[in-house]
Amino acid sequence: MRVVVLENAEAVAQFAADFIVRQVNGKPNSVLGLATGSTPLGTYRKLIEAYQAGRVSFKSVTTFNLDEYYGLEPTHEQSYRRFMCESLFNHIDIDLAKTHVPLGSTLDVERETASYEQAIRGVGGIDLQLLGIGTDGHIAFNEPGSSLASRTRLKTLTRRTRQDNARFFGTIDGVPKMAITMGIGTIMESRELLLLACGEGKAEAIARSFEGPISSICPASVLQWHRQAIVVLDKGAARGLSQLEYYADCEANLKEVAKV
Ligand code: PGA
Repeated sequence: MRVVVLENAEAVAQFAADFIVRQVNGKPNSVLGLATGSTPLGTYRKLIEAYQAGRVSFKSVTTFNLDEYYGLEPTHEQSYRRFMCESLFNHIDIDLAKTHVPLGSTLDVERETASYEQAIRGVGGIDLQLLGIGTDGHIAFNEPGSSLASRTRLKTLTRRTRQDNARFFGTIDGVPKMAITMGIGTIMESRELLLLACGEGKAEAIARSFEGPISSICPASVLQWHRQAIVVLDKGAARGLSQLEYYADCEANLKEVAKV
């Protein structure tokens, strides 16, 4: 696992955007896994800038989002489909037919979740999955206790997650109680993982996930088991880590080797 600690949220967004641009320029028909929430917004702004500057094209890219609130129509103000259109898709040259977000308003959850998994398999799997982390350690909407082998399915949100997201819905009661989410097993099959976290509010979840035991009670800890996982943090989110000096040495040495 590579842990990259940067000065601030702006630097985290720049790192992630540069990483994604390199991925897409190296493989124009990349399959990207995308995330929602406040954390990736800066990254998406920088991807839009890169596209506008002619540094990248998303014409042949396919995307799969991690999750969607159960019961929300794609056009709902707070749906993740709408979030993705407004924050990224509407501003770049991506083919909307190649973008996938689980259908939260589905009447047949079994079918929706099975076909989501099938669609991922059908394009040969995800090359690079972007992730955030919840204050309870969740990735996507895999809440504490989620099977580390889980697949795309309907999941109940914790009260803590609903409280964290109440800012978008006005009150906690407005936040849907369930979501369709990629499973942890699904996420772990991505060839590369890029988890971003900013702010002291995430420090405890980060320390438990990356310097604690692997456990379903802290779903993000499963990244320790992935061969190509990069965790990118600002100073606030990194605050609870005990091995900061070592992570900095690793980054410095990587840069040295790259120069040779
Ligand atoms: P946030 O959410 O980016 O809005 O903090 C992250 C998450 O819940 O995964």
